[in-house]
Amino acid sequence: MDKQISFDPPRGMRDFYPADMVWRNKVFGAFREAGEAAGFEQYDACVVESYDLLARKSGEEVGDQIYHFFDKSERHIALRPEMTPTLARMVAARQKQLSFPIKWTTVAQCFRYERMTKGRKREHYQWNLDIIGEESVMAEVEVIGTACAALRRMGLSPEDFKVHVSSRALLGELLGASGIPAEKHAAVFLALDKRGKIPDEEIKYILSQGGLDEAGIAKVFEMFAVKGLDELPDSPAVANLRELFRLAEIAGFADCLQFDISVIRGLSYYTGIVFEAFDTKGEFRAIFGGGRYDSLLTTIGGDPTPAVGLGFGDVVVTELLKARLGENAAAEKRGIAVGFMFPEQRDAALALAARLRAKGEYVNLSLRNQKPKQFFARASESTCAKAVFIGPDDVASGKAKMKDLATREQSEFDL
Ligand code: HAM
Repeated sequence: MDKQISFDPPRGMRDFYPADMVWRNKVFGAFREAGEAAGFEQYDACVVESYDLLARKSGEEVGDQIYHFFDKSERHIALRPEMTPTLARMVAARQKQLSFPIKWTTVAQCFRYERMTKGRKREHYQWNLDIIGEESVMAEVEVIGTACAALRRMGLSPEDFKVHVSSRALLGELLGASGIPAEKHAAVFLALDKRGKIPDEEIKYILSQGGLDEAGIAKVFEMFAVKGLDELPDSPAVANLRELFRLAEIAGFADCLQFDISVIRGLSYYTGIVFEAFDTKGEFRAIFGGGRYDSLLTTIGGDPTPAVGLGFGDVVVTELLKARLGENAAAEKRGIAVGFMFPEQRDAALALAARLRAKGEYVNLSLRNQKPKQFFARASESTCAKAVFIGPDDVASGKAKMKDLATREQSEFDL
């Protein structure tokens, strides 16, 4: 006999039952509305991408996590772990036709063969917001402000989350001032990104392997003592960060931001301001993360083009929303349940459902006759806000009652 097939999805993958889709739709709805409200245009691409593009352009860690395979013609293919390399490829392909700056958005399913921990799956949907072709910090302002607006639409406030902001340019200046040469900075960033995830001793070892002496390593760790921008001497990177905070004040989301020098980001392509959003209680993983990546277009062969963007996953934010707003907070009651008592009333119920649907109502029509108690019990548990139950008397009188399931108020109407 064949082995019994497991009812579980493959490890790290999710099934979305109707109750899960209610949450997904709430989250995706906020993504879409916030993106539209800020003038981002939608784009999309296939989840399958060429391995070379992804392996070379994602961060080291993400590069190791790629699901990849050879197709029947021996093409090396992968499931995208993130959208940014694909976006860069699409923009590079049309660089002469596009009129910059462009503001693009998508919700992309991404796959990473990760160690499974809270908030980390092997598949997730990631809302991406990117502005390509804008050098000024206005790009950061628009991208971060739009993500904060989405969190507000979902029902969270600045008390629930903060966007921690730093800058690789700033870290580069500090490393440079400590005598650490520029060609070592990228390796230092990737090692430092592991802070909190692996012991500091291990990070010091990685840095020493990268050629840093003990004094250099000590200087690197001293950087993290900086708590506020005002502790730092004026420099281009500091001025840039100050401008971001000033503009965020005008745009009305400064209360969502906080300077945090420890934000590094694990992807290698970031060049300037970097940021990551966390819940204020520190219970969950990063809600979203992003930054400026001014060199990615050139590294894939495009023209030099500044860029800023972020990725905002569906997993962590859904966990956070359930914890802060309640497990049932996404359920929205709307629509009308229509039922009938005996088979003889079925035609009348079907005709009523058709009429209501033609008017644009959401109608859940019972497929068979039911006892009134059964019908109303099911209707109350459903997503419907109102219910009509048709019995023999209703058909005879040509009138039926529409019941509000919350208030129990009834109103009569012509069948
Ligand atoms: P990332 O930090 O690797 O950045 O991912 C961004 C967000 O995606 C995370 O903050 C988290 O919400 C979600 N995420 C990532 N991996 C997982 C996972 N295994 N399970 C659940 N959620 C996950 C990027 O991917 C960049 N490409 C973002 C970007 C766009 N930068 C510029 N443009």
